[in-house]
Amino acid sequence: MYNTRQITTDLTWIGASDRRLALFENVYPIPQGISYNSYLLKDEKTVLLDTVDSAVSKQFFENLQFVLGGRALDYVVVNHMEPDHCAEIANLLKIYPNAKIVCNAQTKRMIAQFFTLNLPEEQYVLVKEGDCLNTGRHTLRFVMAPMVHWPEVMVTYDETDKMLFSADAFGTFGALNGNIFADEVNFERDYLDEARRYYTNIVGKYGPQVQALLAKAGTLDIAYICPLHGFVWRQNLDWFIEKYTKWSTYEPEEKGVVIAYGSIYGNTQNAVEILASKLADKGVKNIKMFDVSQTHASYIIAEAFHYSHLVFAAVTYNAGIFVNMENLLHDMTAHNLQNRIIATLDNGTWAPMAGKQMREELAKLKNCTFIEPNISLKSALSEAQLSEIEKLAEQIAALIR
Ligand code: FEO
Repeated sequence: MYNTRQITTDLTWIGASDRRLALFENVYPIPQGISYNSYLLKDEKTVLLDTVDSAVSKQFFENLQFVLGGRALDYVVVNHMEPDHCAEIANLLKIYPNAKIVCNAQTKRMIAQFFTLNLPEEQYVLVKEGDCLNTGRHTLRFVMAPMVHWPEVMVTYDETDKMLFSADAFGTFGALNGNIFADEVNFERDYLDEARRYYTNIVGKYGPQVQALLAKAGTLDIAYICPLHGFVWRQNLDWFIEKYTKWSTYEPEEKGVVIAYGSIYGNTQNAVEILASKLADKGVKNIKMFDVSQTHASYIIAEAFHYSHLVFAAVTYNAGIFVNMENLLHDMTAHNLQNRIIATLDNGTWAPMAGKQMREELAKLKNCTFIEPNISLKSALSEAQLSEIEKLAEQIAALIR
């Protein structure tokens, strides 16, 4: 049975949510599920804006058929060719063989890579920056947004109703639960953390490209943002855009300390637990601790984008960095985090090496400062080394003050 929601008089959300998928992109845990948004514009022409992941195709096609109400599908706009949004293009064209595909040249090449469609050239409407498509009352303008999150990505601006179809940008992890507008939920309390985790892990590497899109969006009069995942925005757009500005410029949202540790028998953990207590004694707030073997890297990366100061503590393992910490640091440098103050602590019973190697990896991050020195434990924190923890806590607290 169809399940849709009206966005405006002419626009209907016809997407669906998946609460069964364990790992988005087969990497990121999504305990609250994920939504795949698709929108149908009914004007003199009918326009489908993106499709969905194959996991929700049955619901999608029921929704599409219901909202079309027997009308033909004239156009399908492909803003993003990643399969979580385009998986159903081939099936769509079997049902609506005359629908024209509106996309850019790079998307057209990707369609040929993913599908064997053998469509005539005239079935494609190829667009480039600033091109428009008039559908009757509405005019859709196409704005290129390369690397937000793939190179072919574009966004579509409906000049008539001032709506930005933003592809992956402004999305969030989490299924939709009836409420589709961000103003229908307590977004800051219930969804901001997952929106941050979604942004930083999916698009975080491409801050300059997101900045370029934000600059283009800044020239548009936008009343609605309609992303491909999560909520539609029609209120407080500036608040969410400001979050994107912080994340894409790698500026911390708040002062605070993220402590990520890799500990085997608890001694490294003990040292950073003491550090956290000393930080708190000195008035530091927003201390977040993570065991890298227990918390998926995506959560730690999101919090590293959130807060200003980072502490990494790890045991030495195979003459290198404890494997789960090594994976986290590799993931973090791949996501291009910048502008942070970083401290390190390592541990080793006979040859502590992790601190040196963690710093070598973290040195790839732009505009980051290390607090000196690395604290190096031999098996466990000794009474004699307590002063080193105390000094580190004071250095961090002074920087935060
Ligand atoms: Fe939601 Fe880049 O796909």
